[in-house]
Amino acid sequence: MTQSTTIRWEQDRTGVVTLVLDDPDQSANTMNQAFRDSLAVITDRLEAEKDTIRGIIITSAKKTFFAGGDLRDLIRVTPETAQELFDGGMAIKRDLRRIETLGKPVVAAMNGAALGGGYEIALACHHRIALDAPGSKIGCPEVTLGLLPGGGGVVRTVRLLGIADALLKVLLQGTQYSPRRALENGLVDDVAATQEELLAKARAFIEANPASQQPWDRPGYRIPGGTPAHPKFAANLPAFPATLRKQTAGAPYPAPRNILAAAVEGSQVDFETAQVIEARYFVELAAGQTSKNMIQAFFFDLQAVNSGANRPKGIEPRPVRKVAVLGAGMMGAGIAYSCARAGIDVVLKDVSPEAALKGKGYSEKLCAKAVSRGRTTQDKADALLARITPTADPSDLAGCDAVIEAVFEDTSLKHKVFQEIQHLVEPDALLCSNTSTLPITALAEGVERQDDFIGLHFFSPVDKMPLVEIIKGERTGDEALARAFDLVRQIKKTPIVVNDSRGFFTSRVIGHFLNEGVAMVGEGVEPASVEQAAAQAGYPAKVLSLMDELTLTLPRKIRNETRRAVEEAGGTWTAHPAEAVIDRMVDEFGRTGRSGGAGFYEYGEDGARTGLWPGLREHFTRQDAEIPFETVPFKDMQERMLFSEALDTVKLLEEGVLTSVADANIGSIFGIGFPGWTGGVLQYINGYEGGLPGFVARARELAERYGERFAPPALLVEKSEKGERFGDG
Ligand code: NAI
Repeated sequence: MTQSTTIRWEQDRTGVVTLVLDDPDQSANTMNQAFRDSLAVITDRLEAEKDTIRGIIITSAKKTFFAGGDLRDLIRVTPETAQELFDGGMAIKRDLRRIETLGKPVVAAMNGAALGGGYEIALACHHRIALDAPGSKIGCPEVTLGLLPGGGGVVRTVRLLGIADALLKVLLQGTQYSPRRALENGLVDDVAATQEELLAKARAFIEANPASQQPWDRPGYRIPGGTPAHPKFAANLPAFPATLRKQTAGAPYPAPRNILAAAVEGSQVDFETAQVIEARYFVELAAGQTSKNMIQAFFFDLQAVNSGANRPKGIEPRPVRKVAVLGAGMMGAGIAYSCARAGIDVVLKDVSPEAALKGKGYSEKLCAKAVSRGRTTQDKADALLARITPTADPSDLAGCDAVIEAVFEDTSLKHKVFQEIQHLVEPDALLCSNTSTLPITALAEGVERQDDFIGLHFFSPVDKMPLVEIIKGERTGDEALARAFDLVRQIKKTPIVVNDSRGFFTSRVIGHFLNEGVAMVGEGVEPASVEQAAAQAGYPAKVLSLMDELTLTLPRKIRNETRRAVEEAGGTWTAHPAEAVIDRMVDEFGRTGRSGGAGFYEYGEDGARTGLWPGLREHFTRQDAEIPFETVPFKDMQERMLFSEALDTVKLLEEGVLTSVADANIGSIFGIGFPGWTGGVLQYINGYEGGLPGFVARARELAERYGERFAPPALLVEKSEKGERFGDG
């Protein structure tokens, strides 16, 4: 290898060498084999021609500066190929180190996003300038993929910012900064408004600093804030475990632990040793299962879902200009805000002008908060609010090319509301319902154009939750599906697509998580342990507290309706052990959840939780339990929650409600809080110890102990026997 294929060498008459990152085979530059080879060639040449070089600018010919590690390679790393990854990583680190210590000024001219590997290249430069382009992001998001920055990112951020800031601002949260915020937080040294200014500033730095050195290579250098032996450092220490706990809540996320170890251990040794320590911790993560799960979900599945793998082909996009949001309650208010934020005009309609105004008030509150925190300007907030017209007058809906209904969860009310407006909006307006449980096919019967009717299930709070579940009714047309998909993307949310069924995917599956938690209370398991099991499994909300939030009467209502539907269809209803617990909580003790002031928890005057209800231990004792053991093993507690959701997801695939594995994985993490470390509900099965056969064997064990609901569905057994995984082929 004597040629650089992905890094172009451009030298001007003054001796400034511009290294242009430009992989000819990919749309973005990554740390692939070609890059490693090119970097070695370039580094040799820089050293050989050092005397003719005045300084070095590193920039890129792509839209992004540099994208980072090649995730297609990383997801394939196994313990057997880990050494290869270690060697390859060390080679890059050595070459960057050689450039950094060449004795010439090196400037990163970041013309676009520099995340992960891109920012690590910049860190090896003496001066970092970022082009202040919209959407340009800077930082080390590796932790969000279960990894750590293994290209010197831990070693250098610790030496640049100090351990505390490196961990809290860059490494543990994986924050992606805008160029301006990166400047404020010390990640870059300067920003430029234009490409010309970027390069001019880079040249000016080279002029002014002919003999640049990194701070850490200067004599007498000390890590800012000290290292663990330093008294000032000790004062900062308690913040770390708290941050780690908050992020992972004890769930099996190995990345934050390895980052912490690499940072602290690396701070106590010389630079070169720190690089080796970082590489070892990186390789351990890359060879493990969690990073594979997270890369699969947060990169590949998310890309598949957002890029429209499920959108019917050949239908011209027609951006929505004016949307009618019917019902200005909790959901309608949030939907109105999200649409207005995306530049869509919104008519927010409720039964009275006061109710509609109150709904708009929600946007006013969010805007005021965003302005006060510097996230938006007053002008932009005013423009957003001006797009929302609150009303009680149906005639204001004229001209709307889409409708999103969010009135009470009641089929006949929804029918009535659609009947009232269907001739007032545009004759081909897209008709959407935000129902969380009612079958879409039956709701569509309330309108004349059933092919234009579709479910658009948002999650609460709408402004924060990234997912929208699109539900195709039996008569929904492809055009409506494509338009609904485009609308969700227009408001910058992530759409999954499912076929109609009671509870769809998300509402049906989250019910199993809740039921298992509640059932354990009925078995006499210590309620605090039930909560701990959910937290340590990685669920963002504890199970009994979530039940209280949703109210105990809601699952009862849904269950009764579902039972009626099952029985009407000639089936038999198998009661879940949670049902009896919920019935007693509501009927015997009058505890309906947070909104009723009492549930599994007790609440103070201000509505804040004050603790688990002591009556749980008194009234739900082991003698009452159907499961005759002393205690349910902790692993069983966690896996009952995880398995119940995963097994029913497989049934939803069997039933054709779900049609894509990526939708299931993304929907489960972003919609209903399935733990992110698993890579989503089906990737959890793929990644389970022993793969699908291991999962099937464990499901059978749980079925034996806790009931037939854990028996593996036929599709799972079949895939396991064929040696397949979910998402193959
Ligand atoms: P909500 O009770 O907060 O709001 C409903 C609003 O609809 C009220 O402001 C009411 O005045 C209004 N309304 C009633 N009849 C109306 C009519 N004829 N015309 C116009 N407005 C009318 O309810 P929420 O929580 O916002 O739920 C709305 C819908 O969204 C329901 O179908 C619910 O199942 C669904 N949903 C709720 C979620 C949640 O977390 N609360 C999540 C996802 C969907």
